[in-house]
Amino acid sequence: MRHYPVMLSEVLMALAPKDGEVYLDGTFGNGGYSAAFLAEADCHVVALDQDPDVKSRASELVNSSGGRIEFIQTPFSKMDDVLGGRQVDAVVLDIGVSSMQIDEAERGFSFMRDGPLDMRMQRSGPSAADAVNQMPEEDLARIFSVYGEERRARRAARLISKARSGGVIATTQALADLLEQGLGRAGKIHPATRVFQALRIFINDELGELYRGLCSAEAILNPGGRLIVVTFHSLEDRIVKKFIRRRADMPSAGSRYMPVGGAVEFKPSFMEASRSVVKPSAKELVENVRSRSAKLRLAVRTENPAFDGCDKLLPNVPQLSDFTWAA
Ligand SMILES: C[S@@+](CC[C@H](N)C(=O)[O-])C[C@H]1O[C@@H](n2cnc3c(N)ncnc32)[C@H](O)[C@@H]1O
Repeated sequence: MRHYPVMLSEVLMALAPKDGEVYLDGTFGNGGYSAAFLAEADCHVVALDQDPDVKSRASELVNSSGGRIEFIQTPFSKMDDVLGGRQVDAVVLDIGVSSMQIDEAERGFSFMRDGPLDMRMQRSGPSAADAVNQMPEEDLARIFSVYGEERRARRAARLISKARSGGVIATTQALADLLEQGLGRAGKIHPATRVFQALRIFINDELGELYRGLCSAEAILNPGGRLIVVTFHSLEDRIVKKFIRRRADMPSAGSRYMPVGGAVEFKPSFMEASRSVVKPSAKELVENVRSRSAKLRLAVRTENPAFDGCDKLLPNVPQLSDFTWAA
């Protein structure tokens, strides 16, 4: 299986790499974006990924690039902490799981491959099996409904609750079979698809990470620096879109106004490059079916100070830290 960097040509067009600039690739993965940045210009790349498994690929690139790239294993929400005061000329995020993670049965991300019900990008903390076997039924239903946009969320949670009273649900296959038998097939997509998406988002706190990552990017970008985000579903894109609009536009109410000499002045911290989202080309859609739901947004940092405060962009759902997890 080939691992395509999704929307690479559109990312390069948005970035317009230049000699001497510093770029932060917050989702290194297989290094497709980072390698392309290094090939396009005599730039420096700071690459992050929270998955310890990508370290070996990162080391190859560190060695072959003459030290023009450094790799740090960390969630991208911590990019401002790990940079220790350094600023960058672009932050690029390619959100979600990589083909490598999905294709490895042992990581437990896919119901197409039988493996332990894991789904942890960081390989630590509570797993999807912990969530499925330990969380109250109503919390599971809420997660399936919000993170999976699953209309049959209550039924799915009920099925899980009944099944686990007879024994632990430990594998991707066991959960997928349970959902398929209990929910039945309606339409083209497998009945486990939305529940699996919801569990993955919950276990990795993907939306919280995204929002905090955007705030961190705002803190470390130089004036003129580019924020480039590729997302894969509407929940993620909505957060990116709202984040950029709130910082780029005069808000309608209750947001970022700065009193100046009695008047109220809005100081945008970003300029939105375009109101419309960029989508993969027809050619890419043919070559790489996994790119079909990708969307790219670009914003450019202004010289105004970063927004100070918390936007209510995240859905109200139970969080990992709300529970005590049994070992
Ligand atoms: C879609 S892949 C990126 C592929 C990459 N652009 C390439 O060209 O190979 C997403 C990667 O981001 C990582 N990731 C996802 N969320 C993250 C987060 N919050 N912090 C750091 N890495 C994250 C995943 O572990 C995965 O390796």
